[in-house]
Amino acid sequence: MKQIMHSDTLLEVNDLKMHFPIRKGLLQRQIGTVKAVDGVSFTIKQGETLSLVGESGCGKTTAGRCIVRAYKQKPTDGEILFQEQEGSTVDLASLNDREIKPYRKEIQMVFQDPFSSLNPRMNIMEIIGEPLLVNGIAQGKELEERVADLLRKVKLSPDYMRRYPHAFSGGQRQRIGIARALSVNPRLVIADEAVSALDVSVQAQILNLMQDLQQEMKLTYLFVAHNLSVVRYISDRVAVMYVGRIVELTETSKLFSFPQHPYTEALLANVPKPDPRLRSQRIVLQGEVPDPSNPPSGCHFHPRCPYVQERCKVETPPLRRIESDRYVACHFAEDLTLRGVEIPKAA
Ligand SMILES: Nc1ncnc2c1ncn2[C@@H]1O[C@H](COP(=O)(O)OP(=O)(O)OP(=O)(O)O)[C@@H](O)[C@H]1O
Ligand SMILES: [Mg+2]
Repeated sequence: MKQIMHSDTLLEVNDLKMHFPIRKGLLQRQIGTVKAVDGVSFTIKQGETLSLVGESGCGKTTAGRCIVRAYKQKPTDGEILFQEQEGSTVDLASLNDREIKPYRKEIQMVFQDPFSSLNPRMNIMEIIGEPLLVNGIAQGKELEERVADLLRKVKLSPDYMRRYPHAFSGGQRQRIGIARALSVNPRLVIADEAVSALDVSVQAQILNLMQDLQQEMKLTYLFVAHNLSVVRYISDRVAVMYVGRIVELTETSKLFSFPQHPYTEALLANVPKPDPRLRSQRIVLQGEVPDPSNPPSGCHFHPRCPYVQERCKVETPPLRRIESDRYVACHFAEDLTLRGVEIPKAA
């Protein structure tokens, strides 16, 4: 047990690594390693929303899945310190399958499409009630009442309880996914692209619901997303990831107005104009996203960086604190004047 966390910190991730072997041939020999998450550190305060952003493949989902311990294996390296209700701290990364069990309901995930992995023959009562049944929290009449309460919480009528997923719209399905995640009273919710598949107007409704529930249930959110307008709307702080690492982490308005990493500047320059016809607006930058099994030397961003210098090609910049609440992994952060954006605070 460690006691090093600040009392208002719920989660502290230290130098987290998740490497996957690449195997080939009949003998499944390992021919390489995908460094999906390669030394990620951040903290999340109680009640705040921290977002992880970055291009496809930068390791956002892998980081989230490590925290909920969704993989069979433990993370390759690093700590995931979680503050328990009584104030002591546990390293989730070090626990085995049996030891992790009591913590599973404390950290819940909301997915892009909560129904893609579920039996379409389960009705809403069964879908939302399952975690309560499995964890031995409620059954029978009490279970039904809990599910009705949860449906009311996400602004759906309990009358829908006997209906099946196909009868609902995308936004309603996401409400059901949220109700299911909240059924076991988690303290941390990891939302992985939770609104990415929805129309813009529906996105706003779900984001508002999530914010209301955060207040009401004192929730802490780790929000994984590629859509910067959504991130701007929902987050207190933002961590920008690039090829398995965090390159900048700071308070949301600072990040958008005054980015200090060239990659953040590039992302912001490519914020797409809101277009209701586009459901999922991917970030598309000049140049290729590096292969995480063979990333560039030095600063991973150097081949795409307009400010590159010789040092960047050989020396990896550590994530360092340059202001009280700003961390940047760039050798020249203090020398650069980068361009931010003013995005109206509406999704
Ligand atoms: N189980 C796995 N085995 C091998 N490689 C994996 C595994 N999971 C993820 N990866 C690789 O790790 C890298 C990071 O993937 P991840 O899904 O975390 O990215 P992401 O940031 O969530 O991307 P997206 O925005 O597309 O969802 C990718 O190169 C991916 O192919
Ligand atoms: Mg992902």
